[in-house]
Amino acid sequence: MAKYRIAWLPGDGIGVEVMAATRIVLDRLDFAAEYVHGDIGWEFWRTEGDAFPARTIELLKSVDAALFGAITSKPAKAAEAELLPELRGKGVQYRSPIVRMRQLFDLWNCLRPIKAYPGNPLNYKEGIDLVVFRENTEDLYAGVEFSPVPQAVSATLAATSKNFAPFAGLGADEYAVSCKINTRRGSERIVRAAFEFAQQNGRKKVTVVHKANVVRATDGMFLEIAREVAQGYPGIQQDEANIDAMTMWLLKNPFNYDVLVAPNLYGDIISDLCAQMVGGLGFGCSGNIGDNLAVFEPTHGSAPKYAGQNKVNPIATILAAKMMLEWLGEKPRAAALEAATAAVIAEGRVRTYDMGGSATTRQMAEAIAARL
Ligand SMILES: NC(=O)c1ccc[n+]([C@@H]2O[C@H](COP(=O)([O-])OP(=O)(O)OC[C@H]3O[C@@H](n4cnc5c(N)ncnc54)[C@H](O)[C@@H]3O)[C@@H](O)[C@H]2O)c1
Repeated sequence: MAKYRIAWLPGDGIGVEVMAATRIVLDRLDFAAEYVHGDIGWEFWRTEGDAFPARTIELLKSVDAALFGAITSKPAKAAEAELLPELRGKGVQYRSPIVRMRQLFDLWNCLRPIKAYPGNPLNYKEGIDLVVFRENTEDLYAGVEFSPVPQAVSATLAATSKNFAPFAGLGADEYAVSCKINTRRGSERIVRAAFEFAQQNGRKKVTVVHKANVVRATDGMFLEIAREVAQGYPGIQQDEANIDAMTMWLLKNPFNYDVLVAPNLYGDIISDLCAQMVGGLGFGCSGNIGDNLAVFEPTHGSAPKYAGQNKVNPIATILAAKMMLEWLGEKPRAAALEAATAAVIAEGRVRTYDMGGSATTRQMAEAIAARL
């Protein structure tokens, strides 16, 4: 009998291929799991008006964890235009299923390990080993947005903020408002998760990424909470950096950093920058972790131009599966999977196109499986 029930969400485009490749590796690990397929992505938007159907939401309520490939997302007008004719004009609106999933299941911690595996020709520098903690449900991604801006919103802003004066005379269509909403609870738990991780894993320093000098209310609160939390971890150095300076310093001195923690948008930015320093999208893996569910995924999208070609690098998804094993408490299997992946990278015989080779998606997975 399977020990774990795993939601298997391939999604669109190359998501399907990298997930099939990852299954080759997981099957070799003799991991006692039942994989249950879930529908998600563009096809379900087009044909049902919902990229994240209710049956998939129900599935996620019944599993121990989920592995997710990638989805295609398009702007509102393109999304409406691709709906089946009978669904058009019915008021259905496209929203990214991954953002919905994070909010619906309160997957508040976006964890992104950034490791330069020795011998990867795409490493910016050998030896980079960072971990990013990105708040995952709040901030500018809260989805509280106005375009056009309703009169009630503009009237409230005019009455409550003198800085709104330059915008107060604009027509509803002449500007747009996206709210950056951060809570004390959301900020506290992501910062604490970063410090806890540092403490448990022998890491020396946590850098809090912010823009509190300008974005005073939300980032000011985030920074203040981070300083309070840091007091409880006297053995860990607490460091602070503005997001703009951070992008520069990360490139200049990546070895000055260790664990990074940030509100949602800044975390999104630095984790892509960090991923590029250790091989790019073919290597970027992430976990969306909540108290009751965790969904692991590569950070790349559906890459339509490579879909169906069995060409892209499955390592990002294989490393996401390794994170899933760790989260489930399957530490020896996770370590074996990471070691096998690192060995194939170091050996350099099997390389996908992004690494300068010609191996297929499947061949890369088979090479890693052969090392297990
Ligand atoms: N989490 C997600 O599912 C997610 C993330 C980003 C983008 N998207 C969506 O994916 C679609 C395509 O977006 P995009 O083309 O801007 O981004 P993308 O991440 O899909 O791909 C961009 C480029 O990166 C490279 N790449 C991506 N994955 C790779 C891999 N595994 N191995 C080697 N190279 C790889 C390819 O050159 C590809 O053309 C869009 O609809 C977008 O909205 C989804």
